[in-house]
Amino acid sequence: MPALPSFNCKLLTGLLYAATAVGVLKISAKIYGFLSLIVNLFLLPPVDYSKFGAKKGAWAVITGASEGIGQEFAKQLASRGLNVVLVSRTQAKLEEIATEIESKYKVQTRVVAADCSKNTPELYASLYKAIEELPVSVLINNVGRSHAGPVLLEETPDDELENILTINNAFLVKMTKLTIPLIDRTVKSKQAAKGLIVNVGSFAGLFPTPYLAVYSGSKAFLQNFSQALSIELKEKNIEVELILAYFVTTALSAIRRSSFFIPTPKKFVAATLRNMGRRGGAQDRFATSSPYPSHALINYVANNTLGVFSEWIAQSTYNNMKITKAKRLRKLQKQKAAKAE
Ligand SMILES: NC(=O)c1ccc[n+]([C@@H]2O[C@H](COP(=O)([O-])OP(=O)(O)OC[C@H]3O[C@@H](n4cnc5c(N)ncnc54)[C@H](OP(=O)(O)O)[C@@H]3O)[C@@H](O)[C@H]2O)c1
Repeated sequence: MPALPSFNCKLLTGLLYAATAVGVLKISAKIYGFLSLIVNLFLLPPVDYSKFGAKKGAWAVITGASEGIGQEFAKQLASRGLNVVLVSRTQAKLEEIATEIESKYKVQTRVVAADCSKNTPELYASLYKAIEELPVSVLINNVGRSHAGPVLLEETPDDELENILTINNAFLVKMTKLTIPLIDRTVKSKQAAKGLIVNVGSFAGLFPTPYLAVYSGSKAFLQNFSQALSIELKEKNIEVELILAYFVTTALSAIRRSSFFIPTPKKFVAATLRNMGRRGGAQDRFATSSPYPSHALINYVANNTLGVFSEWIAQSTYNNMKITKAKRLRKLQKQKAAKAE
């Protein structure tokens, strides 16, 4: 066999070294990412909310605060010493929770009954009026709407898709816009060292989700919105965080029983507040976090294997959703028949 010219030999050896170096770098980055996840979620001490004005008279505004995840945000922020403004449609539910919070956590509360699907100047004017004189330091953009069940776009009722886009996007953007000057004022007055805006996102926005296409798109919008805003507001010392959740046991998910992958709102919010500002499983994205440990694991594994934009994952979701939809329809038909008897 003829000997390889020494130039080719050197080139091959060089390429081999370069490929090995790239491989080592990639594997090191993945190991570093996983170690960061562990350090973030389990080893660092819980975030101290005094920097956001807790126990210094500052206020947090929470939308969708009468139930589920929003109610827990209200309770757990109050337990850290923030006064809370609770926003949702139902005055009676809000008042009940406000009374419980005041007596349990000795903070002040304010309730605002408002329908966030009414995208009118009057709605925003009334919300602004309700909070304008308060030293607001935290905004939790939690209110969200999903589809009634798995549905193809062409079958989605217009009012359902309009509500989703209005509540999840238009309302969130305008609520944020009207609150920024108030948070800025609180930070400038030194009542809080930092401000905080939390957008509650979803794995449906992380992974393209067929049969929930409008909800999925509305939550994906929050990714770029939150990251862009986080850079815009850095100079004002206002932190912006997109929180990614898989399932949580609430009315929206219609899941009642909690499990390793599906926490109660209480556990989900506890992990979120504990780890605020840390990436958890979303190591590849700034201003973004999947803070609940089992959700962080799913996020991390997906990122580092097939990728969240994998067509295979989206196709499998489509297949599963198709089955879920058929089961749901059968259940609804049975309920209808039972009622008719
Ligand atoms: N649960 C999950 O598995 C899950 C997963 C990923 C992301 N998320 C996100 O988490 C957030 C909270 O969801 P959740 O599961 O806690 O929902 P939820 O239990 O259904 O609670 C929704 C809250 O929003 C209020 N609300 C609903 N429509 C409203 C409207 N038009 N105007 C004002 N308030 C309204 C409700 O109170 P009223 O009825 O009194 O108005 C209630 O307080 C949403 O952004 C959702 O997309 C949830």
